Amino acid sequence: WTALGQAGFTRSDSVVGVGGGATTDLAGFVGATFVRGLRVVLVPTTLLGMVDAAVGGKTGINTAEGKNLVGAFHQPAGVLCDLTSLETLNPNELVSGLAEVVKCGFIADETILDIVEADSHAAVDASSQANRELIERAIRVKAAVVARDVTESTSRGRDVGREALNYGHTMGHAVELAERYTFRHGAAVSIGMVYVAALARLAGRLDEATADRHRDVLESLGLPTRYRGATWRQLHEAMKVDKKSRGDTLRFVIIEQVGRPAIMQAPDPALLTAAYDELTR
Ligand SMILES: NC(=O)c1ccc[n+]([C@@H]2O[C@H](COP(=O)([O-])OP(=O)(O)OC[C@H]3O[C@@H](n4cnc5c(N)ncnc54)[C@H](O)[C@@H]3O)[C@@H](O)[C@H]2O)c1
Repeated sequence: WTALGQAGFTRSDSVVGVGGGATTDLAGFVGATFVRGLRVVLVPTTLLGMVDAAVGGKTGINTAEGKNLVGAFHQPAGVLCDLTSLETLNPNELVSGLAEVVKCGFIADETILDIVEADSHAAVDASSQANRELIERAIRVKAAVVARDVTESTSRGRDVGREALNYGHTMGHAVELAERYTFRHGAAVSIGMVYVAALARLAGRLDEATADRHRDVLESLGLPTRYRGATWRQLHEAMKVDKKSRGDTLRFVIIEQVGRPAIMQAPDPALLTAAYDELTR
């Protein structure tokens, strides 16, 4: 804000955010708030940035009290993904981003899961056609979900809306908070998806094979599917302050089959802890 003010930015100027999701979220938030809204163009250079952070208009910053508590909806005027920028990315960052791609597979596009299952080595190779197709498919899923529910008013009747993108994130955010943001986002989301798949299975809303498919697909990419860090109590407390929870009531996005997201509200506490126990095994 200071730099833009000193440079004399006005509403006819644009902010261009080049970098990972942290950078594009910050650039978007500065663009959303400076003179109440500048044009923003995003050039994500991480896989997570391309498939997730740069698409959809959510901008924000973290505070000591929690992740993304301060932010704004502000759609970018454009997003440019140059896949060659991924060549310099740390392989762990690439794999982390693939967690969001797999999420898109489970909530909306089974072909994503098929591509990973066909050749998980190609999936993690930034120069492969498979990787490119995964990125394009995940962007399409995110853009389609967001276009139907731009400000996350979400979940009317059986239509889960934009909240579907939160699959794996309720527990994922809790893990990130418990680990003081030293965990990669995708790794936390991977753990979160395994958790919520176990929860849905234990509640009789998801079949065992699809729950197992979570572990198989995520592990084949090198993503974590077990977690023994924080205690259940710590994670439970963190989930209660997640902005997706309403009051003290826990609320999870689950899937009832691949491509069919649903909401699970106030699950039985015994199921919550049983799913946590499975995560630690
Ligand atoms: N707005 C949204 O909807 C949304 C969605 C998901 C995540 N996010 C946010 O995105 C952030 C995570 O994004 P991220 O995974 O891109 O992490 P990041 O922005 O922290 O980048 C990861 C690391 O990679 C480096 N880097 C970036 N591009 C590179 C390249 N091409 N080559 C080599 N190094 C490169 C960065 O300097 C950084 O060290 C989190 O803050 C999260 O909250 C936002």
